Amino acid sequence: MKHAARLAHLFFPTCLAALLLCPGMAAATDKPTPQRQQTLLHLLKQDCGSCHGMSMKGGLGSPLTAASLADKPDDSLVATILYGRPGTAMPPWQAFMTEQEAQWLVEILKNAQTNPAQ
Ligand code: HEC
Repeated sequence: MKHAARLAHLFFPTCLAALLLCPGMAAATDKPTPQRQQTLLHLLKQDCGSCHGMSMKGGLGSPLTAASLADKPDDSLVATILYGRPGTAMPPWQAFMTEQEAQWLVEILKNAQTNPAQ
């Protein structure tokens, strides 16, 4: 019993932190829920598309096609999405999505089948 109580002490703050840090996500390591995926794809087309082009081929922002991102490391693309690029028009998106969600968007963009570019 004592042991279980100690575990609960560890467990609850961890869960609470995961909930606070990852809104809209079932668990910190899961893919976004189907509903959240719809929201993120909408954001990608409307908000990211306003600079990167509705077809992701570039505009004010650089092209986000699968081919143009292929050689770039995921980590740096995720960091660019979350924190923006100071000194350029690329804004930070960390208030709107978690790191896992930015990673999911990078996977969508890097895959020619799922990239919204036509
Ligand atoms: C206000 C305009 C603007 C918006 C909105 C915008 N971006 Fe950008 N983005 C830029 C610019 C400009 C660059 C190029 C920065 C540079 O010169 O390094 C960029 C760069 C990037 C890069 C790096 C590309 C590379 O080849 O290294 C990624 C990834 C990216 N944006 C993703 C996104 C995503 C995802 C969204 C939407 C959540 C978004 N951007 C919204 C302007 C924008």
